[in-house]
Amino acid sequence: MERLDKVLSNLGYGSRKEIKTLVKKGEVEVDGEVVKDSSMKIEPNENTIKVHGEAINYREYIYLIMNKPDGVVSATYDKYDETVIDLLEYEDTVLDPFPVGRLDKDTEGLLLITNDGKLNHRLTSPKHHVDKVYYAEINKVVDEDDIKAFKEGITIDDGYKCMPAKLEIISADENGSEINLTIQEGKFHQVKRMFEARGKEVVYLRRIKMGKLDLDESLSEGEYRELTEEEILMFKQI
Ligand code: URA
Repeated sequence: MERLDKVLSNLGYGSRKEIKTLVKKGEVEVDGEVVKDSSMKIEPNENTIKVHGEAINYREYIYLIMNKPDGVVSATYDKYDETVIDLLEYEDTVLDPFPVGRLDKDTEGLLLITNDGKLNHRLTSPKHHVDKVYYAEINKVVDEDDIKAFKEGITIDDGYKCMPAKLEIISADENGSEINLTIQEGKFHQVKRMFEARGKEVVYLRRIKMGKLDLDESLSEGEYRELTEEEILMFKQI
């Protein structure tokens, strides 16, 4: 059971005070009865709640996919920088979503944003072997030796040996290379540090896939959408 004002507030109907006013005006009904007390306890999945005569769409969780732009941090709050949460419409922030894992400030691409802690854990724990695919531009030639080294496991600067990673070369010449890299971990700056260990530098990085979910081509930088039921299910089965 939950307090009615808390449920409505979480759904974006205003502060608890504003909801009290709505209730006073007789604008809120539970199972067909006009509510008198905004703190009454309800079962949101079972009771029918109406505001202004319209049934509310109750939900506990929100699942968003964003095409993260450059220059924005993957955090809920930052003293100096704009965060991915700042890019959300107000109504998408009321359930307190947070980014699943981190993309660096200058990394672009697929970022999930949710308030589902269990899903977050499943997707970020290396135990679950969820593939994350990155497209990257590298400042030097990437070659077969690199593919072999990534397959065997790159040892990064702090001595950690990364799990085997799949490196695919899209193009490579003296001016630089384009590659796709599939990893299952998410260590801090992992892709950049893996290339650093090979004496090369990542000059552009974009995540293009997580599990079976591709970065939506229809999402321009900074745009986002809700995951479909099917996509949510797919992640829950991981
Ligand atoms: N690896 C990195 O180096 N940066 C990211 O943002 C993600 C993976």
